[in-house]
Amino acid sequence: MKATPQDILKETQHTLDLIAKRELAEDDKKYLSEITTAHYTNYVNPGILEYRKSVSTEYASIEWSDSANGFTDLKGRKYLDLLGGYGIYNVGHRHPKVVEAVINQLNRQALHSQELLEPFRAILAKLIADITPGELQYSFFGNSGAEAVEGAMKLAMLHTGRKSFIAATSGFHGKTLGALSATAKAKFRQPFLPILPDCYHVPYGDADYIESVLISSDEVGNDIAGVILEPIQGEGGINVPPDDYFPRVRDLCDRYGALLIVDEVQTGMGRTGRMFCVDHWNVVPDIMCLGKALGGGVMPIGAFVSNKVIWEQLFSEPWLHSTTFGGNPLACVAAIANIHVLLEEKLPEKSEKLGNEFMAKLKALRRRFPKLCVDVRGKGLMIGIEFPTDAIGFEVSKGLFDNGVLVAGTLFSAKTIRIEPPLTLTTAEMNQAVSILEKVLKEVNGRHFETKKPAVAKR
Ligand SMILES: Cc1ncc(COP(=O)(O)O)c(C=O)c1O
Repeated sequence: MKATPQDILKETQHTLDLIAKRELAEDDKKYLSEITTAHYTNYVNPGILEYRKSVSTEYASIEWSDSANGFTDLKGRKYLDLLGGYGIYNVGHRHPKVVEAVINQLNRQALHSQELLEPFRAILAKLIADITPGELQYSFFGNSGAEAVEGAMKLAMLHTGRKSFIAATSGFHGKTLGALSATAKAKFRQPFLPILPDCYHVPYGDADYIESVLISSDEVGNDIAGVILEPIQGEGGINVPPDDYFPRVRDLCDRYGALLIVDEVQTGMGRTGRMFCVDHWNVVPDIMCLGKALGGGVMPIGAFVSNKVIWEQLFSEPWLHSTTFGGNPLACVAAIANIHVLLEEKLPEKSEKLGNEFMAKLKALRRRFPKLCVDVRGKGLMIGIEFPTDAIGFEVSKGLFDNGVLVAGTLFSAKTIRIEPPLTLTTAEMNQAVSILEKVLKEVNGRHFETKKPAVAKR
């Protein structure tokens, strides 16, 4: 039965009071715990509860507040954040400069009229032109990574007049229909096929394969509008390509008239030790997609960025692509503060240095547990640890969770757990995480790979 308007007023007022409280009473915590799981079951999706580590402990762990490089749940349990919200917390949690910018903007104006010009959208677009490589210059702002990919694919079609794309196996670009055509996981795509019918998936890291598809597509008159790739595959399992891959793909795109679309939604904003991952190889894409950490871990914002020649398609028809909340002032000021903090605190450099140290320690653990730990790979603070099976990967990440360290598998499998902490992680926090991981690996290794000594018969 639906609640009456009076009941709804009571419930919303009670909730607003809870939101406003600095400290919750035990009764408040109990109420929130109970209604959160109950409402997930009845109004969000009960299926989600099956998948969350947070409900596999003795109590359901419920989001409540940020702490320095982590979270505190409703019951006051602290977690060190090695997951970084799947790559959104590059400047840390609630960085004071990002929060201050958003509050200042909020105190003046929340959202935009949609009709006047927005100063902070303009300033952000200029800043993005300054920090992205080569001639990348014009930006369109949306609200998510998938939206950035949608726009990038549409722009490639407009500019080239072609309709087909090349993407990579194990690639992830989002789940809206256009982005889903480029995403590679069968389970996510099959119910919605044919999506964009002419999207060919080639093995990631193999430039020769891309060339052969470009040649055959050319021959049959089904020319390729764009080649869309992640510089390091995140959801596919932290897959790092060979160093010559992107330079070769750049060259192939030029030769066959396809645009190179680089999806930096997860790798961008300093994550891999450079502001953008393609900077490792000095490659300039035709279109770059941004999202996740762009909003400083405070506001959602995505963007696609391209050069003037390509963007000209949109000069005469700027409404060919638009969205109500895209480029809103709260998101733009958060992104401006985010860029400021990344540069001021030299976070890309820090990511490279700390990432190298972290990786060396993880590789040393790998040598100690060779049957358990199959591989350690990554760049900067985008690191994957691979285990022999999904089940073992989940056991390790659950063990870490039980010990207050947050990590997760990737969307393609739980076999590889990802380490994507805030780039503000301290050396002490890294060491703490490594020693907790060592403890968890010992336990899991003991359960799976150490043969029990035969009991010695007593005389
Ligand atoms: C590389 C990449 N592209 C696009 C997306 C989609 O972003 P969103 O979830 O914000 O739509 C993701 C999300 O994980 C991603 O990792």
